[in-house]
Amino acid sequence: MASPLPFVASGSGVPLLLVHGFPHDKSLWSPQMRTLYHHAHVIAPDLRGFGGASSPPTVMTMEQHAADLVALLDHLGVERAVVCGLSMGGYVAQALLAEHPDRLLGLVLCNTKATADDPAARDGREATAVRALNEGVAGIAEGMITKMVAPGTAPEVVQEVLEMMARQRPEGVAASARGMALRHDRLELLSASTLPITIITGDADVLIPMSESAAMHRAATGSTLVTIPGVGHLSNREAPEAFDRAVLELLARIDRPS
Ligand code: MLT
Repeated sequence: MASPLPFVASGSGVPLLLVHGFPHDKSLWSPQMRTLYHHAHVIAPDLRGFGGASSPPTVMTMEQHAADLVALLDHLGVERAVVCGLSMGGYVAQALLAEHPDRLLGLVLCNTKATADDPAARDGREATAVRALNEGVAGIAEGMITKMVAPGTAPEVVQEVLEMMARQRPEGVAASARGMALRHDRLELLSASTLPITIITGDADVLIPMSESAAMHRAATGSTLVTIPGVGHLSNREAPEAFDRAVLELLARIDRPS
């Protein structure tokens, strides 16, 4: 049977599902694909509408992305996974927690938030969707890149991220922008969860400020908060070693449950 989503996978052990942000694809995780397979069965898919995945409906909610990921886990014969989502990937991870908690072993929520959009943010999402459809994605990528990574990020990382964003398809970008606008507040959900949760942020993230990570940490009793100094929105690309350490610490808690 064909896979519901394109993916790369490597390694064995605890399944670790890496969920990219917006407007990204699975190549976001290329540093982790080179390192974490020594410790886990690492799986990095393209979400619907991104990378090589099929076209989405007009609006692609976080719950629909979560359902696609469950179909992928089914396809791979994986019952439960640690889900590590960055930014939009973190919204999808929280939709999995809401809708399919039985498929989770733990969560790594990176540069993301649990709060819903206010009306101004929702308007901004719609403007992004219309712009993507009318003008293409290159201009959106150019506009986002300085906010995506902290000043001083290695030029080759900046270039790779810019190219990754610019090659996404307008209909995929529009559908997920509209879907992000429909997000629910997940703070209560986090506070009710008993899963191991690690929250990763950078103190130079201007897209999703550290205060959002602190709010998630306060809600998710027993969660671990890792703040990486000097790092912006793409902590896994800007500080891969510190990022990997935080993920490995969570994996160790899964391997040796207390
Ligand atoms: C992302 O990186 O996925 C986006 O910045 C998330 C968002 O726009 O809320």
